[in-house]
Amino acid sequence: MKKRIFIHEVVTRDGLQIEPQWIPTERKIELVDALSQTGLAKIEVTSFVSAKAIPNLRDAEEVMAGIRRNPDVDYVALIANARGAERAMAAKADEVNLVASVSETHNRANMRRATGASFAGFVEMMPLLKSGGVRVNGALATSFGCPFEGDVPAQRVMDLVGQYVEMGVDSITLADTTGMAHPAQVAALCAKVLERWPGLQVALHFHNTRGMGLANVLAGLNAGVERFEGCLGGLGGCPFAPGATGNVCSEDVVHMLQSMGYDTGVDLDRLLAVARRLGAVVGHDLPGQVVKAGKISDLHPRPAELV
Ligand code: COA
Ligand code: ZN
Repeated sequence: MKKRIFIHEVVTRDGLQIEPQWIPTERKIELVDALSQTGLAKIEVTSFVSAKAIPNLRDAEEVMAGIRRNPDVDYVALIANARGAERAMAAKADEVNLVASVSETHNRANMRRATGASFAGFVEMMPLLKSGGVRVNGALATSFGCPFEGDVPAQRVMDLVGQYVEMGVDSITLADTTGMAHPAQVAALCAKVLERWPGLQVALHFHNTRGMGLANVLAGLNAGVERFEGCLGGLGGCPFAPGATGNVCSEDVVHMLQSMGYDTGVDLDRLLAVARRLGAVVGHDLPGQVVKAGKISDLHPRPAELV
């Protein structure tokens, strides 16, 4: 039996939030609908945040209302405050993704408040979310380093995971906002978290800013993590983190894991077909590799002189 690994797609949230030009609502809906047919476990569709902070996702309600849902997929929305929780619940998100940063400076840049204030808000929101039956994921941005503060102590990450667990989240995500994680660090932190909370569902969210994205996925995998977030085409980035660049590329992650003998549940050819159309949606070239090179099983004709 192949080991099952779950892939969470974030392109219409992390991917589109940093795109400078407006992406029409219809294109977003088409993208989610196509991704819904590829075998992904979760799709983070959008965020219910301030339209001033993230103008490209100001159509969150319309996108959520317009998508055709596959019952096998969990449709996730990122939120930062109570207003976002109400909007996400009205839009019938299956899961909300609470986000706060481990680093105070990034939390202030991104959310305009102290990390403690973000958490205090989450604690207040939990009864409403629980009564509405929505799953709650707790994400920690800058878990592996902060573009303003540098090193982030592992103990601080552990404390904040503990706060999420205590308030009753269903799962957590450790996010490397600007690609500062390295594989040894990922292995150590994941081992710590899984040892302290053995039943906890943990996902990893990496950016490939320094070329360590797939190596970090592998380090997390070897530490026992079964869920990875990725972004189609390798788009993505936080507009409030200087130097942010794309997430690990979903189709490259799936291609690597399948080549290694893991069951990702994803139909790679279908995912690649959606990735091939993404450049036209955003109007520029994408960092994804497999879509350009082809799968390792896609061979070329032999040189004529050898035939
Ligand atoms: N949905 C829609 N609008 C919202 C909102 C929400 N969840 N929360 C706040 N707003 C609006 C307010 O109505 C206000 O609008 P106005 O200026 O027209 O009156 C404006 O946003 C500012 O609201 P305020 O409560 O003063 O918030 P703030 O300026 O302190 O910003 C956040 C705090 C959290 C709302 C804002 O920083 C934000 O949305 N950040 C999200 C960043 C993000 O998504 N980053 C990438 C993902 S990690
Ligand atoms: Zn991200």
